[in-house]
Amino acid sequence: MKKYAIILAAGKGTRMKTELPKCAYPLLRKPMIAYIVENIHHTQIIDDIIVVVGHKAQVIKDILGDTVKYAFQEEQLGTGHAVMVAESLVTDPDGASVILPGDMPLVDTCTLEEAFQEHKDRRHDLTLVATKVDDPTGYGRIVRNESGYLEEIVEHHEASYSQQTINEINTGIYIVNNRVLFDALKQVNNNNMKKEYYLTDIIKICKDSNHVIGTYYLKEAYRAMGVNDLYALSIAEARLRLNINRELMLKGVAMINPETITIGDNVVIEENVIIHPNTYITGNSVIKKGAQIGPNTEIHESKVGERVICRHSLVYNSIIHEDTTVGPFAHLRDGAEIGPKNRIGNFVEVKKSSTGYNTKASHLAYIGDATVGQNVNFGCGSITVNYDGKHKYQTLIGDDVFIGCNVNMIAPIKIEEGSLIAAGSTLTENVPKGSLAIARAYQVNKENYMNLHRPKEKKENE
Ligand code: UD1
Ligand code: CA
Repeated sequence: MKKYAIILAAGKGTRMKTELPKCAYPLLRKPMIAYIVENIHHTQIIDDIIVVVGHKAQVIKDILGDTVKYAFQEEQLGTGHAVMVAESLVTDPDGASVILPGDMPLVDTCTLEEAFQEHKDRRHDLTLVATKVDDPTGYGRIVRNESGYLEEIVEHHEASYSQQTINEINTGIYIVNNRVLFDALKQVNNNNMKKEYYLTDIIKICKDSNHVIGTYYLKEAYRAMGVNDLYALSIAEARLRLNINRELMLKGVAMINPETITIGDNVVIEENVIIHPNTYITGNSVIKKGAQIGPNTEIHESKVGERVICRHSLVYNSIIHEDTTVGPFAHLRDGAEIGPKNRIGNFVEVKKSSTGYNTKASHLAYIGDATVGQNVNFGCGSITVNYDGKHKYQTLIGDDVFIGCNVNMIAPIKIEEGSLIAAGSTLTENVPKGSLAIARAYQVNKENYMNLHRPKEKKENE
C-alpha cells in the first residue's frame, strides 16, 4: 500500500496582495513550501510527494526541483478541485494520501507521523487534523453532532452566527484512503458563496456514505497556522525564530538580544558559540565551537571554524577556517576559503579565492580569483586586478610573500614564494621566488622649483 502526500500550492495568495505566489514566500530566508516538503521527507513514511501547482507554477518548481512530482491546476477552482487534478499521479487506489495546504509552514514531522498512525490504528477512511484556537477567524469550523461526532466543516464566510463561535478548526490536513478520496471528490460541487470546489465538503460526503471518519487533535495549535497575508507571515516567522533560537540556547549557544537574531532551520551551531545582535545565519551553514558571530553579520551557506571571530561582515558560500578573525566590514563570497589564523580586516573583499595559514589582509584589499599561500601579507589598498571587462583571470601568490600598500597585481600573474612587492607597484609580469619587485615611476625631486615658479606675493602698498 503506497502512501502519498498531496500539497496544494496552486493558489495565487490574493490576500498577500503582492506578486510572488504565496507558497514561495520565505520565512527565515527559506520558502514556505520548502518547510512542508522537507518535513514530509523527514517522516520517511511517504512514498510519493505530489505538489499541485498553477499560478506562477515555475516559481514553485524552481524551489523544489525534482524532489517531488507536479500536478498542474490550470484554473484555481478551489481546494477540492486542486486535489482532483492530482488523481492521475495517485497510482495506488488502495493506498492513502495526506493532503496539506502549502501555506502551513509550522506543521512538524511528528504531527504528520502521529496523524498517519492514528488513521491506521483506528482504521479510519478519513482522518481530519483538527485543533482549537483562541481566534478562529478565517478557518473552517468543525461542526459536531450532539454526541460529539464529526458532521461537517463549514467555511468561515458560510458559517452561521452561532457556528462562527466554534473555536475548533480545520487545520487543512487530511489523511484519506485514496479510493474514498477520489469517489468523494466526484460528488463535490461549487454551490457556495465563492463558487469554488471546497475540499472541506468531503467530510460530510464521507459521513453520509457511512465511511469511518474521525479527527486527530493537534496539541500545539500554533502549528496549524495558515499564512494568508503578510502579517500572518511575520507572526509565523517570529514563532519559528523563537523555536529555533530557544533550542540552540538550550544546547549552549549564547545569544545577545535573541529577538534580533535569525537562524535558519538547516543551520548547525555547536556549543560555546556567542551570537551578537542583528545577525542572520541561514542556508546550510555550520558554525563550530567557540566562534563569535556578529553584531550585524550575515552568513549564508557557509562554514565557520572553531574560535573564529566574525563581526559586522557578509559571508556567502564561503569557508572560514579556525582561529581567523573577519571584519569589521569584510565581504567573503562565491567560494572564498580563508585559511586558519588569518586576519581579514576592514573593507576587505575576498571572492572565489583561497588563503593559507596565517595570511593577513588587514584593511582595504580586494582578493578575487586568487590562490594565496601561507604567511602572506596584503598591504592596505592592494588588489588583484582580475577582470579586463570580458574575462576573469587567476592570481597565484606563494608562501611568505609581502605585498606593500597600494599594489595592483594584474592577472593572470604568479608571485612566487618569499617575494617582496614594493608599495605602489602595478605588476604586469610574474615575480620569481625571493625577489623584490618594484613597478612604479621613480621619484624626481626638482630642487628649488617652487621658489622659481611660485608667483611673487604682492607687497601691501603696491
Ligand atoms: C482552507 C480551508 C479551511 C481551513 C484552512 C486552514 C478550504 C475550502 N478551506 O482555507 O477550512 O481552515 O485552509 O488553513 O479548503 N489552493 C490551490 N488551488 C485552489 C485553491 C487553493 O492549490 O484552487 C491552495 C492554496 O495555494 C493554499 C491552499 O490550497 O496553499 C489553501 O487555500 P487557501 O485559499 O489558503 O484556503 P483557506 O481560505 O485558508
Ligand atoms: Ca490558507
